[in-house]
Amino acid sequence: MSTQKISKNCNSLFPMVFQNSSLKKAVISKNIIYYSEDQKDPYVKTSEKIDIFDLPINKILPIENSTSSKATTNSKPKTNVSGLSVILKTLAFPLNPSDKNQIDGVYGAYAKKIFLTDKEKPFSVAGNEGLFQINSFVDSEGNVQDAPEEANIRIGDFIVPRINNSGTWCTFKTIKYDQIVSQQSNGEADYVKIPAVDTSYCGNIRGFGILEATTASVNGCTAYWFKKEFERLAAKDHKTSKTKNYYAIANAGNSQVVKIFNQIVKSQESNENYNLKTVAIVRDRETPEATDKFIAHLKESTHSDIVITETQSQNREFKTEFKKMVDFDNSNIIMGLNAVGGSSARGIESKLSNDGTVFTYGGMSLKGITASTTAFIFRNIKYLGLWITKKFDQNKKLKLSYLFRLRALYNSGHLHLDPNDYEVIVWDVKNDSDSKILKKISVGLELKGKKPIVFVKHERKN
Ligand SMILES: NC(=O)c1ccc[n+]([C@@H]2O[C@H](COP(=O)([O-])OP(=O)(O)OC[C@H]3O[C@@H](n4cnc5c(N)ncnc54)[C@H](OP(=O)(O)O)[C@@H]3O)[C@@H](O)[C@H]2O)c1
Repeated sequence: MSTQKISKNCNSLFPMVFQNSSLKKAVISKNIIYYSEDQKDPYVKTSEKIDIFDLPINKILPIENSTSSKATTNSKPKTNVSGLSVILKTLAFPLNPSDKNQIDGVYGAYAKKIFLTDKEKPFSVAGNEGLFQINSFVDSEGNVQDAPEEANIRIGDFIVPRINNSGTWCTFKTIKYDQIVSQQSNGEADYVKIPAVDTSYCGNIRGFGILEATTASVNGCTAYWFKKEFERLAAKDHKTSKTKNYYAIANAGNSQVVKIFNQIVKSQESNENYNLKTVAIVRDRETPEATDKFIAHLKESTHSDIVITETQSQNREFKTEFKKMVDFDNSNIIMGLNAVGGSSARGIESKLSNDGTVFTYGGMSLKGITASTTAFIFRNIKYLGLWITKKFDQNKKLKLSYLFRLRALYNSGHLHLDPNDYEVIVWDVKNDSDSKILKKISVGLELKGKKPIVFVKHERKN
């Protein structure tokens, strides 16, 4: 039996070092950055737009949000002269589609670019999601201090950013002590602690390991929000109908968001009055046989009730067959999850029951949505959007509460990530030259078919 099979989580993906490890005092943080002037150049690939920037460990980078990719801040990296700072050591960060969109200047939210001198180009540190560990506490002179006695945080605690645009593609991050809190402070500060991440090499202690914790903030929380919304819409509808089955239908059916969503919908105890079910739409693979195999695996591994292809979804004649599949007379297809756009969104819309809602949360095809006029006038279909970051801005406690629920789902075995979906890029901090790590991340940014995740390897064998 392989290690991956007996692991409760995906830790075996990561080349961790436990014996004879040495970690010298951190003096600089290496950051992967991008410049505003390169952003919208269509002839330059995303992977060619990144660079590396060394920040002295005693400096804290300003983070100011903007909707413009060109906005700059007058604030400079500063030493925290007024109090205690916390140095976070990066364990891992994913290269998400939205991070790529930010680098390309085609996203709706950015950190204002920092410019150091008139001779240098304004830049932002890339990345919005990552898993960190507290490395040390330092005073304004950089001297190592003990954790304050009243603090509920210690060296080694696991930390994720609650805020957006924090710039997670780095080796270390220095923040002010008051930017970090634990559960007792309700999770409203800029960085939050998530206890009990399993970092054992075999990954056998708990389901919530390094990959699971690293990716929970964006895809995990988005899936969790959709699950809550699905429950809410079903409960609301059931007050006035005798429907037996409620369905949510999602394109990009093999994306991480949808895989997690389908699993956590199934993790619920069945409501005694009705069932919550899912339909996933996937793109055809190279041959019909490969598509069948792919669908069978997806159904089994993510507990999707029904998986159909985009070709089927966008074929009008398939509608009759689809109605049979979902037992349409006893079912209500109330919710669509659209991460693709273009004609795929229309395929979702056409399958919804009257009064259903299409939520758009991604645009992988880079094409706008063409909705049908009938849907608005005669079928009362609603087109709404979701940006999970906005939800977390509106309710500052929400992210930590979702992270805790996701952790419980992983630990109870109701939720699994498939290690085969991920490609691990190792940032060997002690040995990789700047050009080497830039090359590795560039390859990750162009990767197709697997999700790139960077594991930051600080320790080395003596
Ligand atoms: N709004 C929010 O708050 C929020 C939060 C999280 C994620 N998102 C968005 O959700 C989407 C999915 O994210 P993820 O990390 O779960 O994705 P992922 O795991 O990287 O999967 C990408 C999915 O998109 C499909 N895809 C890629 N290119 C496509 C194209 N040109 N046309 C149609 N489908 C295409 C892939 O299908 P194949 O396997 O067939 O290639 C795959 O199913 C992204 O757009 C992301 O930005 C939004």
